[in-house]
Amino acid sequence: MLVMGSSGERSLAQSASASRNQSACGDNCPRFDAVYPILRAKCGNCHTEGNQGNIKLGDDDIRVAFQETQKLSYTIIGGTVGQAILVRVLDGSMPPGFGCTANFTANTNSADCLTDKEFALLTDWVGGGQRF
Ligand code: HEC
Repeated sequence: MLVMGSSGERSLAQSASASRNQSACGDNCPRFDAVYPILRAKCGNCHTEGNQGNIKLGDDDIRVAFQETQKLSYTIIGGTVGQAILVRVLDGSMPPGFGCTANFTANTNSADCLTDKEFALLTDWVGGGQRF
């Protein structure tokens, strides 16, 4: 579990704007419609029908899926599920059970793992402030 900020009281707006300042893509950062197909394909099985972790990342309605990414995360206290996506993929815990690691180019054994391009897109979406 991670704690964002020392007070733990950092607002979502602050987190989003802090992430925005760190991003290199600036105004060209992707919007949610660019990452939604990835979440549906690689996370949706568990995170929609199964509703594992109580997040419907692959919901049929893109607005619902987006709202799920804006919920408060239990992985990053004070952060969003969107931010937690990066943490849980990088630490190899998501998606579970396929042997996925943060060494994306080495994850050739499973089509269920994210590719480096997919992860870069997710990183830029979060870095750009998780825009819809
Ligand atoms: C095989 C089923 C499965 C797949 C596929 C899967 N997850 Fe999960 N996920 C879980 C389960 C079960 C939990 C709840 C337990 C836990 O936190 O480990 C969870 C929890 C999470 C959480 C924690 C939510 C929070 O509030 O912090 C995040 C983030 C997450 N998953 C992201 C993803 C992403 C991104 C993908 C796709 C790349 C993915 N998961 C694919 C089963 C899955």
